[in-house]
Amino acid sequence: MSDRERELVMEVFDSNFVAPAGPMIDRFEQEFCEFTGHAAAVALSSGTGAMDIALRLLDVGEDDEVWVSDLTFIGGVSPILYRGAKPVFFDVSKETWTLDVALLTVELEKANQNGRLPKAVIPVDLYGQSCDLDPIVAVCAKYDVPVVVDSAEAMGAMYKDRHAGLGAALAVYSFNGNKIMTTAGGGMLAGADEELLDRARYLAQQARQPVIHYEHTETGYNYRMPSLCAAVGVGQLEVLVDRVARRREIFDVYENTLGGYQGVKMMPEASYGKANRWLSVLTMSESDMSASPEDVCEVAAQQGVECRPVWKPMSQQPVFKDARCVSSGVVSDTLYRTGLCLPSGSAMSDADLERAISVIKGAMGLN
Ligand SMILES: Cc1ncc(COP(=O)(O)O)c(C=O)c1O
Repeated sequence: MSDRERELVMEVFDSNFVAPAGPMIDRFEQEFCEFTGHAAAVALSSGTGAMDIALRLLDVGEDDEVWVSDLTFIGGVSPILYRGAKPVFFDVSKETWTLDVALLTVELEKANQNGRLPKAVIPVDLYGQSCDLDPIVAVCAKYDVPVVVDSAEAMGAMYKDRHAGLGAALAVYSFNGNKIMTTAGGGMLAGADEELLDRARYLAQQARQPVIHYEHTETGYNYRMPSLCAAVGVGQLEVLVDRVARRREIFDVYENTLGGYQGVKMMPEASYGKANRWLSVLTMSESDMSASPEDVCEVAAQQGVECRPVWKPMSQQPVFKDARCVSSGVVSDTLYRTGLCLPSGSAMSDADLERAISVIKGAMGLN
């Protein structure tokens, strides 16, 4: 946070327009569209809510299948269950840690032959690295299956020469407090179809008919973003490019100091894009190192340095124990067992970073 966000929040405060409607929300949506290149966007209370509305817009319902990347955070997956649909988990590619396009292609062909195509496919832009969206959209289009890209972690990341998430039917972003830009809590649903996004806005405001007497022909949600949060978002958009530059710089420092050790590999960057490096992540080879990622987290935490394991794959979560998983999630499982997320905050000073590296090196047993 900076003085700029404070100034914008005070503007909303002084206008008394703090509710989940008003000029600051319109401004945030407009500036978000200018930054990302999306034609339309709706500011919501969370990324999870944005995914919920996306699936509702696509008519996902009871017993439909929704195919989703196995290696992700549950916020983009729970809405499949809210709709009574069934998630099917897909492994990721070793090169990008995002949805394996070859696997998707083969499974779509099989599902088409069996007459049970998914209702939607959700690739995930993991840790701020875009999935390989164009071939995903192309193969899904062959079977008329819409793609909702979960770009929750990817504000400021690029796919080819455009912003991550652009090119799918719908894209979901998160401004949770832990993300590269935040609104304290919030999300955005965006895409090219303005009518569809107008319907999202209507659904997010209790599906209220445009008459004075509170008329409803269907149920909606209370998912709109409060104006005070939108003000924070406007301020954060202004510094997002600097945030990405700093996160990438932090990643490079880790790469230069830790990446050279036997058994340590930094998360690869896909040749088709530019990751925002929301989190700097490495993997530790099980044969070369005695410590596990969890050991490192524990030892580093004792010295005030916070590391985390890579997301536990959805196919291994007890809540999804009955879900189908394509290819047994081998790559996702390996990344989970060997992956370590490093302290990555844009506000870390060089001295903080140096201390974190020294603690992490000690915890990993590197000299
Ligand atoms: C990949 C992914 N999807 C969805 C979400 C959900 O977003 P939110 O926390 O804003 O509901 C998050 C983050 O929290 C996420 O990392």
